[in-house]
Amino acid sequence: MIILQKHIIYIMRTVQYTSSLLYSLLIMLFFVQIQAQPNCSSSCGEIKNISYPFRLKGDPSGCGDSDYELSCVDNKAILEIFPGKYYVHNISYYDQTIRLVDVNFANGSCGLPSGPVETTDGYVRDVRFRGYGLNPGSRFRFVKCSTNISSVPEAANHTTVPCLTRNGTYVYAVYDGDYSYYEPQKSCSVISLAPVDLRKDVAKFNSYEAVMELLKAGFEMDGQLSAEIALWLVNNA
Ligand SMILES: *[C@@H]1O[C@H](CO)[C@@H](O)[C@H](O)[C@H]1NC(C)=O
Ligand SMILES: *[C@@H]1O[C@H](CO)[C@@H](O)[C@H](O)[C@H]1NC(C)=O
Ligand SMILES: *[C@@H]1O[C@H](CO)[C@@H](O)[C@H](O)[C@H]1NC(C)=O
Ligand SMILES: *[C@@H]1O[C@H](CO)[C@@H](O)[C@H](O)[C@H]1NC(C)=O
Ligand SMILES: *[C@@H]1O[C@H](CO)[C@@H](O)[C@H](O)[C@H]1NC(C)=O
Ligand SMILES: *[C@@H]1O[C@H](CO)[C@@H](O)[C@H](O)[C@H]1NC(C)=O
Ligand SMILES: *[C@@H]1O[C@H](CO)[C@@H](O)[C@H](O)[C@H]1NC(C)=O
Repeated sequence: MIILQKHIIYIMRTVQYTSSLLYSLLIMLFFVQIQAQPNCSSSCGEIKNISYPFRLKGDPSGCGDSDYELSCVDNKAILEIFPGKYYVHNISYYDQTIRLVDVNFANGSCGLPSGPVETTDGYVRDVRFRGYGLNPGSRFRFVKCSTNISSVPEAANHTTVPCLTRNGTYVYAVYDGDYSYYEPQKSCSVISLAPVDLRKDVAKFNSYEAVMELLKAGFEMDGQLSAEIALWLVNNA
């Protein structure tokens, strides 16, 4: 009986010892973690909470994902998605979406996108953003023609881009709400694309002011298809 008791006490002590060892190990790990986890919420202008998967240039290493690095210029957060440059207007961590506005359109001036983020086939060029969806997939195509096609009936949905059109060069913006196949007119070729929000039941924009208004509002990308983001969602559920 006494032997058994001693044995039990021995076992209990061992358990106690082991658990206190485990406990201190956990505490140690906890502090190592705290030390390794820098303050990873940066802000830039209106974007107050830049955190994983995004990071701001200059954040401690270990913050966010270097593939999704924003820079802060004149209090505006900028994301470069090859070959374009975009102001970040909003990050919704809940919906996993970002709203971007091309730096060339943000001030409402006439011109081409800083770079077409997608190919004419509708693929995002920048491999870092392949997993992102352009939501909902509407765009303006910028079309350059060597003849004036304004009176061609098939070109009724082409809106003249006045600042780029001069004698011998005619530039048009053509709205595409849901990714339709587009065959340029004979004297024309597509020179750039800009994703925009969906405007239901609009086939033609009558003025370039209306085109610019939509360009200035920007577009949304969602990361729900990205494996990395999905993992992040699972870990934060
Ligand atoms: C983390 O950084 C943000 C923005 O720079 C700041 O507002 C906040 O107080 C910081 N938090 C800690 C715990 O340092
Ligand atoms: C910032 O975003 C992180 C990641 O989604 C979130 O955990 C945190 O609560 C947010 N902080 C603020 C102040 O919104
Ligand atoms: C971003 O969008 C969310 C959800 O639509 C909204 O609640 C939030 O106010 C917006 N933030 C900014 C800075 O516009
Ligand atoms: C608007 O922004 C573009 C691109 O940054 C710049 O080239 C242009 O000069 C700006 N226009 C005005 C009126 O500020
Ligand atoms: C192109 O043709 C249309 C209609 O014929 C005309 O109104 C417009 O001024 C022309 N554009 C240019 C740049 O010559
Ligand atoms: C523009 O109009 C032409 C002729 O109606 C049509 O074939 C083409 O699909 C339209 N393009 C878009 C992008 O809607
Ligand atoms: C415009 O181009 C046409 C045809 O090339 C030419 O005949 C005309 O002189 C040009 N007009 C101007 C103002 O350059």
